[in-house]
Amino acid sequence: MEVVLEGVSRRFVLKNRAVVALRDVSLRFPSGGVSIVFGPSGSGKSVMLNLIAGLDRPDEGSISIGGNVITAMSWPELNMFRRRHISYCMQRNVLIPRLKVGLNIALPLLIRGVDRGEALEKARDLAEALGIGYTFDRAAYTLSGGEQRRAVLARSLTYRADLLLLDEPTSNLDEETAERVRDVIMDYYREYGPTLIVATHDPGFMDMGDYRVRLVEGRVVEQG
Ligand SMILES: Nc1ncnc2c1ncn2[C@@H]1O[C@H](COP(=O)(O)OP(=O)(O)OP(=O)(O)O)[C@@H](O)[C@H]1O
Ligand SMILES: [Mg+2]
Repeated sequence: MEVVLEGVSRRFVLKNRAVVALRDVSLRFPSGGVSIVFGPSGSGKSVMLNLIAGLDRPDEGSISIGGNVITAMSWPELNMFRRRHISYCMQRNVLIPRLKVGLNIALPLLIRGVDRGEALEKARDLAEALGIGYTFDRAAYTLSGGEQRRAVLARSLTYRADLLLLDEPTSNLDEETAERVRDVIMDYYREYGPTLIVATHDPGFMDMGDYRVRLVEGRVVEQG
């Protein structure tokens, strides 16, 4: 599914001071391709992914995914569209603290009505591939930052999505672990062939993309 942004702007007003997070961004992320979004901290990467995921709305401009204009959808339509087509690994590690890691990872499958045994098996395979199999039966709040990061990523890789959005999937990880994580992401990509968009500071992703975008202060300064 091709992702097209046209003239997208997003501003936030804090104590009467406006922060312009994205300024007139027009971009096309190729269908079925791997796109990498780079840019300094605060340049608007996460704000852009939140808009593409349909968790937030632009102040100006439009966004379409596979020809569906998500900026014209109602919230219920958008929620349905997201559930059907998108998987999003957010930058913040949002896990249910008292729930076991395995169940946290399996949650998207359980919500979709997949049998519990099958869902947990898939969750375990992913946890092991990402090197956190030993945490599977622990409560999520006991994990380190890097372990949480991988549990959140695992959760976003449990099901087949047409559009996979990953925000800093290798933050908080040592290089060896980051490499392993990049491999698991590419395994998913090879298996399911989604449109993949990764926002990252990790230079290890540099050579993996078909398409690269660089944001600075909310503007696209490089693409191709
Ligand atoms: N809800 C919000 N309210 C006010 N300002 C916000 C909000 N969300 C983001 N911003 C601001 O928008 C700008 C872009 O933020 P964003 O999170 O997209 O940066 P980023 O490129 O993802 O940075 P990082 O690499 O640190 O994750 C920042 O200046 C940030 O402070
Ligand atoms: Mg960010």
